[in-house]
Amino acid sequence: MTAVQRRGPRFTVQGGAVLRGSVRISGAKNAALAFMCAALLTDEPVTLENVPAIRDATSLGELLTSLGATVDRPAPNTLRIDAGEVNVYEAPSELITENRASFQVMGPLLACHGYASSVPPGGDVIGQRPIDVHLGGFEAMGAVVTREGEHFVARAPEGGLRGARIFMDYPSVSGTQNVMMAAALAKGESIIVNAATEPEVQELARLLNAMGAKVSGIGQQIMHIEGVERLHGTTFRVMSDRIEAGTYAIAAAMTGGDVTLEEAPVDVMDATWAKLEATGATIERLGESCVRVSRSGPLRAISFQALPYPGLATDLHAPMAALLTQAQGVSIIHERVFDNRMLYVGELRKMGAEIVSTGSSAILSGPAPLHGSRVRALDVRAGASVMLAALVAQGTTTVEEITHLDRGYERLEEKLRGLGAEVERS
Ligand code: EPU
Repeated sequence: MTAVQRRGPRFTVQGGAVLRGSVRISGAKNAALAFMCAALLTDEPVTLENVPAIRDATSLGELLTSLGATVDRPAPNTLRIDAGEVNVYEAPSELITENRASFQVMGPLLACHGYASSVPPGGDVIGQRPIDVHLGGFEAMGAVVTREGEHFVARAPEGGLRGARIFMDYPSVSGTQNVMMAAALAKGESIIVNAATEPEVQELARLLNAMGAKVSGIGQQIMHIEGVERLHGTTFRVMSDRIEAGTYAIAAAMTGGDVTLEEAPVDVMDATWAKLEATGATIERLGESCVRVSRSGPLRAISFQALPYPGLATDLHAPMAALLTQAQGVSIIHERVFDNRMLYVGELRKMGAEIVSTGSSAILSGPAPLHGSRVRALDVRAGASVMLAALVAQGTTTVEEITHLDRGYERLEEKLRGLGAEVERS
């Protein structure tokens, strides 16, 4: 028994490597998870290709199975989901609290079966993560939503959900996805006003259309959905993960490396490219899904805001902060999506970063020499931030609680090692 208790598996990172080579970007977590829920909208099989092998997808697969769906893996990164036998409409609490996306079973269950029940979803503790936008959308379509103990219970009206004009207080990503899925099978037209426009939302709309839905205004803040009687099965490929791609791009720039990202969603990452260029990185588009990121000169301090799409993604806030610890001058970050995305700050400070946070802003002075430390991956992206910092730190860093990283990054250590980093899992 050691004096200090160990918190599950960990990464040990030897700092100092310059990343070079190429890395293939995996399927997008936040698209794949929504797609898996969308499979509940039909009694025919839905085959999803390019699903990342991450813990969030595994736990959501378990959740779908517990509802009565069959989830097969006919090939690596391919899931075949058959919801023809779904007969449980209450999501088990222990699986719902595993991740945020699981709450998106509510819309499909409500639309298909007229009833859905769930405790509030889990996910990273990155601020208050209300679900009023989701529930308000269901209510606008005629559902009655009640709180029964810890559960939110939604019941469709006699005759099923009715299309409605739905104003969202905030363009919530999973809220838009949840309501869009419910509206796909409602009677009549729904108009979502102030819809999220994130690429993962757009791709869900395209998947729904491939299943026979009638969604238009894709990528716009006002989206139209003409409800249909039924949806059918399809085969659909999950888009590449812009956050994973951004994380490796930042790693390349941060280490003064030269990395080619293959199968990257280059065209939906303008904010990332603009901000990395401002820090002194060189971005060379080699094709619609291939981009080379390198840096030879010094890193410059920048300011940025984390915003809904097409602004710089909040999920890249913490990774970008790691890079800015090495930039010459004072950088300022404003987080404008979540109210607690600063968990990485304390961990980077342990490594020597000069960073302070004031509410939703962080101020960094650099370059600050970082030293190997024992740190924690406190959420998926805070974890990515400390991993990046570890790459440039002097000495060895131990990153604990890496189950958070496993939730969102496929084969992280393998991919980093492929680029020359020294990373071990133990
Ligand atoms: N919000 C509300 N009411 C709601 C829902 C959200 O006020 O009913 C507010 C939240 O409080 C927050 C803001 O809206 O301030 C954004 O939340 P949103 O609902 O858009 O986020 P989410 O759907 O919970 C998804 C991703 C997150 C990503 C955000 C923003 C999934 C499973 N998660 O979360 O991904 O940060 O959109 O782009 O799709 C991650 O991958 O690390 C991650 C956290």
